[in-house]
Amino acid sequence: MLGRVEVMHGVNLDQLGRRDPAHYGSLTLEQLELKIGADARELGLEVRFFQTNHEGEFVEHLHRLAGQADGIVLNPGAWTHYSYAIRDALELTRLPAVEVHLSDVDAREPWRRQSVIAELCIARVAGKGPDGYREALERLRAEMSG
Ligand code: DQA
Repeated sequence: MLGRVEVMHGVNLDQLGRRDPAHYGSLTLEQLELKIGADARELGLEVRFFQTNHEGEFVEHLHRLAGQADGIVLNPGAWTHYSYAIRDALELTRLPAVEVHLSDVDAREPWRRQSVIAELCIARVAGKGPDGYREALERLRAEMSG
């Protein structure tokens, strides 16, 4: 294995499959994670998944990542746009991270253009649907292999 990647989904992402398919597609979170898992195996990466609708739990999960993961793929959902608590916890991990959004956040409401985690991430992938996670894994793998 080339590395251990923690794939973290934030608020409302457990509702995929019910959310507007024009933005988010039709996969459920379970189906999306199956695809990410298959992509990770192809890329020689080990993945673990985490989702919560509770900001403090997301923060505490980041706190616990030291020594458990070599990189992070995160889609914090709406928290992306305003949670300085998640930003600070991400910084504490000191791990390479890639920000992913299923939808094209830059082409939607102006408030979605703001990301408080972007400056801590090595890359941002948005608007590519489920394939965006594969791209994120590829970016992390390149980073982890130096
Ligand atoms: C999202 C985009 C966010 O603006 C939104 O609040 C989400 C999902 C995406 O994956 O496109 O919940 O992060």
